Amino acid sequence: MEQEQIIQAINEKYKNLGENPDTYFKGLLQAKPINYWDYIEVDTLLSLQKPRTDFPDEEIFIMYHQITELTLKLMVHEIKQVVSKETLTEEFLLDRIQRLNRYTEALINSFDIMRDGMNYDDYNVFRMTLAPASGFQSVQFRHIEIYCTRLNNLVNDAGKENLTDAPSLEECFEYIYWKDAGTNRETGAKTLTMRQFEDKYAESLLDLARKMKGKTIEDRLNELPSISDELKEKLRKFDYLYNIAWPLVHINTAKHYLDKKGSNTTDATGTGGSQWKKYLHPAFQQRKFFPNFWDDQEIDGWGKELTAEDILEQRKS
Ligand code: HEM
Repeated sequence: MEQEQIIQAINEKYKNLGENPDTYFKGLLQAKPINYWDYIEVDTLLSLQKPRTDFPDEEIFIMYHQITELTLKLMVHEIKQVVSKETLTEEFLLDRIQRLNRYTEALINSFDIMRDGMNYDDYNVFRMTLAPASGFQSVQFRHIEIYCTRLNNLVNDAGKENLTDAPSLEECFEYIYWKDAGTNRETGAKTLTMRQFEDKYAESLLDLARKMKGKTIEDRLNELPSISDELKEKLRKFDYLYNIAWPLVHINTAKHYLDKKGSNTTDATGTGGSQWKKYLHPAFQQRKFFPNFWDDQEIDGWGKELTAEDILEQRKS
């Protein structure tokens, strides 16, 4: 485009907005050029690490959680485009699921920053200062689930037993699997971690589920005339990465720090106070976004045969 044409186009743009283009041209004359640090908000970003102890490794812990939250935000950003797309095409979906897989792999491949990158003894001291906060309270983690799949797919064993054939969203939410982490199985009492989380987010999570009714990624797949093998494979891969592979590298890290040094036994609870060994493993959670793409045998073996080492080995090859 010639300079004259550009000026003409800008004139048109502001006239169409009912504005005087001269004001905007004059404004442009005075505007300071943008720079990297203002655009990326570097100072703000680097001011967000506020350790609560003097252990240097606590900053690693904070920053890696922040990296994860930003990556989850990248994922939510993609997922929102899928669920709000007016006419969903296979091509669009393939590209977006590929992006989701890439982000989830980045989380899996980098998790050894947690597993191997902090001092065991220091971690076990500074983590006490952080109670009852827990990654369990990451709301973006729950948003991703609600955007991806129907709430029926996220109910716990009790829900599977007690719910009727066509349960309401509210009934499903009552039995949502993550409540298992914060509820005492015998007494039904809730941990402080859980009460904090529910006070802050339960209502908005249920609202999101209502908004997504019939519009989750799982639902929207029905709008495609057919689902190619390539798309099916990518969706299965996302299910596997998010609901088996990440949980395994995560529980492996929990075991590393919370088990007694050099053994695989522990009495230690996480900062969220859950019975995490009975909760975090994918075989217990049975969380799936696209259950129709898995056969009975695969569902039965959900993460059972795999260890975190297998996952990391697979990622390298
Ligand atoms: C040393 C590192 C870590 C340890 C020892 C650890 C331990 C735990 C434990 C024990 C739980 C169960 C809830 C509780 O009792 O607190 C949990 C849940 C959780 N953590 Fe971590 N965690 C670590 C790092 C991370 C990181 C970096 C993230 C990223 C945000 C994260 C995200 C989560 C999430 C999303 C849950 C809930 C999982 C679910 O409901 O399936 N954790 N963690």
